[in-house]
Amino acid sequence: MRENDGKNDEKIGKSNPKKLNLVTFTGAAGLLGLAVSFAVFAYKSHKQKSNKRGLPGCDSVCVNLSAKEILDLADEIISKSIRVHDTVALVPLNKLSYENVVLPLAELEAKQLSFIQCCVFPKMLSPYDNVRKASAEAEQRIDAHILSCRKREDVYRIVKIYASKGESISPEAKCYLQCLVRDFEDNGLNLTARKREEVERLANEIDELSSRYVQNLNEDSSCLFFMEAELDGLPVEFLQSLERTQNKEFKLTLESRHVAAVLELCKLAKTRKTVSMAYGKRCGDANIPVLRKLVQSRHRLARILGYAHFADYALDHRMSKTSARVIRFLEDISSSLTELAIREFSILEDLKRKEEGELPFGVEDLLYYIKRAEEMQFDLDFGDIRQYFPVSLVLPGIFKICQDLFGIKIEEVTEIDVWYYDVQAFAVFDSGSGKLLGYFYLDMFAREGKFSHSCVVALQNNALFSNGACQIPVALLIAQFAKDGGGEAVPLGFSEVVNLFHEFGHVVQHICNRASFARFSGLRVDPDFREIPSQLLENWCYESFTLKLISGYRQDITKPLVDEVCKTLKRWRYSFSALKSLQEILYCLFDQKIYSDNDVDFLQLIKILHPKVMIGLPVVEGTNPASCFPRAIIGSEATCYSRIWSEVFAADIFASKFGDGHPNLYAGIQFRDKVLAPGGGKEAMELLTSFLEREPSTQAFIDNRTNYSL
Ligand SMILES: *[C@@H]1O[C@H](CO)[C@@H](O)[C@H](O)[C@H]1NC(C)=O
Ligand SMILES: *[C@@H]1O[C@H](CO)[C@@H](O)[C@H](O)[C@H]1NC(C)=O
Ligand SMILES: *[C@@H]1O[C@H](CO)[C@@H](O)[C@H](O)[C@H]1NC(C)=O
Ligand SMILES: [Zn+2]
Repeated sequence: MRENDGKNDEKIGKSNPKKLNLVTFTGAAGLLGLAVSFAVFAYKSHKQKSNKRGLPGCDSVCVNLSAKEILDLADEIISKSIRVHDTVALVPLNKLSYENVVLPLAELEAKQLSFIQCCVFPKMLSPYDNVRKASAEAEQRIDAHILSCRKREDVYRIVKIYASKGESISPEAKCYLQCLVRDFEDNGLNLTARKREEVERLANEIDELSSRYVQNLNEDSSCLFFMEAELDGLPVEFLQSLERTQNKEFKLTLESRHVAAVLELCKLAKTRKTVSMAYGKRCGDANIPVLRKLVQSRHRLARILGYAHFADYALDHRMSKTSARVIRFLEDISSSLTELAIREFSILEDLKRKEEGELPFGVEDLLYYIKRAEEMQFDLDFGDIRQYFPVSLVLPGIFKICQDLFGIKIEEVTEIDVWYYDVQAFAVFDSGSGKLLGYFYLDMFAREGKFSHSCVVALQNNALFSNGACQIPVALLIAQFAKDGGGEAVPLGFSEVVNLFHEFGHVVQHICNRASFARFSGLRVDPDFREIPSQLLENWCYESFTLKLISGYRQDITKPLVDEVCKTLKRWRYSFSALKSLQEILYCLFDQKIYSDNDVDFLQLIKILHPKVMIGLPVVEGTNPASCFPRAIIGSEATCYSRIWSEVFAADIFASKFGDGHPNLYAGIQFRDKVLAPGGGKEAMELLTSFLEREPSTQAFIDNRTNYSL
């Protein structure tokens, strides 16, 4: 919905919102739940081929299976899962124990995850069409199976009866047991048959409505036509990329890349306004009734499950807990940033007055004048800066920072199977004890047929088994860096550097996890918490110390970025950040409010909210953002706030423990032990409070913006 935030729309549009989606991943798409339950078995199919070379000591991760092997493995996974569930279901009621109810399910889940991921991730990455197809097919089969497990009344009954005995078990085990129960109850298993049918019906209706909403947006082909003069300010290459009509008008679609270009670069206020209006009106007639029904169905579903409204249902197991708390959080930040935003705005207003005279300033002018002001305030040539970030320097630099920060050692592993020739694998050790902590693969470069977003996938989760065996985490980082015609890696743009740091944060988070249950791995933690380690790591990208370490000029890599540029990047990070944050908060509030109150009038809400948050600026005339806000429909419904939430707490952690930007090994190891190691097995708020030795605060986030203001 933010005009410059188009990547999301495209991504969401293509994924299938209906399905569980097995690959446990994070990044652009966020993590989707995976609640498999299985037991420890020897898996045959992948082992028969002795010519496979896996990671040392890590038999269950096989990354280059053939199409047939994938489908066979999927069938094996399913039949073994059925057997374990059948066994648990048949435990006599007077013999229920942790060992025969919880343990088999927990160990199955731990063991099975790696096998499932090996079946499912090739869908995103295999260079072979038939393997990708088999992988998609395997995913569907396993998906359907898992759903059926979560609906097994016989197993639910056993688990529930065992849970009600209140046996004394470890806190982590208790937490796991609650998750098991919840998996069933989220599917309505503790409801009467009639209510369960209603839940099912509502779930289908919600799927159907959200698909329709997104489909309407995807199919929207509205476009605008402009004469060349009306597009003054846009680069020639952009204009050349547009279709032209017979009378030489340029055809502008309402795809976000077209819209963003006009809003940032077009010198004519009238054009910006026309585009902004058309963009904000997309699918108005079609989608607003769909959204209204969708919100109602979600509320109804939440009420059947025992919540006051959908937002409380969505937030129940998150750090934020309740909608009231989220709204308070957003409103607090919004009011703390207002004064700074007004100062930022006056700069933009002055600029507009100079360029266009006394015309009123509208939201549609924001991007353009922010860009103009940044050009004047910062002497940054991002094309030139890119020449300083060859992958071959950035990657070892990131490794070095993480090694020094978290007390780990990273070493490449060679002579093992991969799915594409340029994929690399690394082992991670604890530098104190030399103990192997985990592995990760890097699949860094874009190629035909490859999944087109950056993310981190868990290929195996940490787990401890009752026989004393343990299993270590294996992560996979997928990035989209470019190679030139000759197959050489193109140096990274600065935003790509930041992105790589971010994703690598997820790798570290996953690998440092030491939870006994695979369910509590680094990537399956509370989503309000999940981005915090990565966002924390992003801070290092703006420290001169780091920038010098990871940069080197293309023609002479001994020359790092100069001090001046490093310092400017740090200031630039926060330029107009109050206005930018307020814009995000506006939409987070909109999302939160429509899901926390019955029968909200969307138009009325945005009309009031917009000027209130955006320091008096009204919503663009005639638009109703409710019609084209896919984030609030699929994937982030009632949880849009989560990104800014974790950013705020990451800023707090950085400021209070790592403030000078140099890797602080002591604090880093504390973070590893107190926060990353327990992962999802403990309440995220508790982990942070224990690490910070106080409750987390929003102050650093505000201070950072205020301190760097002009
Ligand atoms: C079902 O379980 C949930 C969560 O444990 C609980 O809040 C709800 O009241 C239960 N519903 C019924 C009908 O027992
Ligand atoms: C993956 O396996 C196929 C055969 O199934 C083989 O042809 C290919 O070379 C392997 N890929 C890599 C990168 O090792
Ligand atoms: C944010 O502000 C705090 C307090 O002024 C400071 O310690 C911290 O280093 C700042 N963070 C960044 C990324 O500049
Ligand atoms: Zn992330």
